[in-house]
Amino acid sequence: MSVHSAFAPAGAQAARIYEHWLLYWYVALAVYVIVGGAFLYLLIRSWRSRPESIAEPTQPVQHRMAKYVGASSVATALILILLLVSAAITGHDLASYGQKPNLQINVIGHQWWWEVQYQNDDPSMTLMTANEIHIPTGQKVLLNLTSSDVIHSFWVPSLNGKRDLIPSHQNTLTIEADRPGVYRGQCAEFCGLQHAHMILYVIAEPPSKFSAWMRHQLQPAPEPVDAKLRHGRDVFLNEPCVTCHTVRGTTALGTVGPDLTHIADRQTIGAGTLPNTPGHLSGWVTDPQRAKPGILMPTIPIAPNDVQPLLVYLESLR
Ligand code: CUA
Repeated sequence: MSVHSAFAPAGAQAARIYEHWLLYWYVALAVYVIVGGAFLYLLIRSWRSRPESIAEPTQPVQHRMAKYVGASSVATALILILLLVSAAITGHDLASYGQKPNLQINVIGHQWWWEVQYQNDDPSMTLMTANEIHIPTGQKVLLNLTSSDVIHSFWVPSLNGKRDLIPSHQNTLTIEADRPGVYRGQCAEFCGLQHAHMILYVIAEPPSKFSAWMRHQLQPAPEPVDAKLRHGRDVFLNEPCVTCHTVRGTTALGTVGPDLTHIADRQTIGAGTLPNTPGHLSGWVTDPQRAKPGILMPTIPIAPNDVQPLLVYLESLR
């Protein structure tokens, strides 16, 4: 089960935004009740008195009305100033959370998927993956956001607010999860036909589990252990798949589409479009345009005898 709600904050940044939202909510509720109550009161009073004709207000009444209008204008201005100050303090707090991150990840938006690069001073520890971002709990993770094509927007409501991914420009956003969980995110800027199918998951795990995941991901793809898997790998390497996808440990080094070295470990296919099950994978590989019309991945005719070995090979990439 994944969480996708700004009302269920799972980290300091999202909690700060939620507090700010609560202030707006209570202020709006109070204004609504007061204005609605005054309106009802006057309505009932006017029903009771039922004047025969509408008379011009007398001078003392005019004077009282002017006082009420003046007082409510001042109250409105004060409320707006209060909300403005709260917004400024929230913005300042969110910016200060970004200092001294424990981990840095580059996130690059593509039509319509997320490229994820784990940064490390040691090049052998840098890692490429896609659409699922594993993070250790209780640690600040700085995301460097950019785009390869159009403007996208990174939004995982349980962890922080939105931040745009802009071509040729780098934005940053810090996220931190204070408890393990799967936090769903969604591209929040219309970016073309499959904008709604540009989903990501942030998977927060205790640091030891995260390190184990990282160590495993850094391994190249497992070698085929039998004839069927070898057949499947040969299909993959001989078909146009290799021009777009990387499987580390093989000659497939394409960078147009997601890195598939450990594709079988991921929960979804096509950036959250389909669950990663053998049936959906089969549909995806044989006709991706049906599942996600408009994506760059073309429908490649694969010989019927080759489909099953190819699927078995992809499912072995754990
Ligand atoms: Cu990417 Cu909308």
